[in-house]
Amino acid sequence: MSDRASAAVDLDALTAEARSARGRAYAPYSRFSVGAAVATDAGVFSGANVENASYGLSMCAERVAAASAIAAGARQIQAIAITSSAARATPPCGACRQVLYEFNPGMTVMSQGMNGERKEWRLSELLVDGFGPSDLPGQP
Ligand code: THU
Repeated sequence: MSDRASAAVDLDALTAEARSARGRAYAPYSRFSVGAAVATDAGVFSGANVENASYGLSMCAERVAAASAIAAGARQIQAIAITSSAARATPPCGACRQVLYEFNPGMTVMSQGMNGERKEWRLSELLVDGFGPSDLPGQP
């Protein structure tokens, strides 16, 4: 993953997609709505958190967006934008970091809070020395 590919992503447009997806969040239990959008080699895909009465089966917006992209044929994620109903910019949870790592440790992760605060990282900063495909025997 080159820096150039990440730099070409329109993070404002991606954030707008994430905000729109947040409006479709199903979060009746936490009342914490999250939207995410990923820019990939197959286009832009979005997702929102989907909660469940069993609580533990709730799905985060980031993983819903990533799974939607991969199921549509994408294989590399260049950037992810995250918006939540919190005032401050919220970082992705640990489980989402691991799932995203599979599809490009160098991706840009951008989060925007309701107060306009923006935070931006490279995924490899959020998940240092992460476990990836190349750590499995026989994988490139
Ligand atoms: N949530 C996300 O969608 N993304 C995160 O990175 C953190 C948490 C969701 C899961 C749950 O529906 C709600 O936020 C409260 O944790």
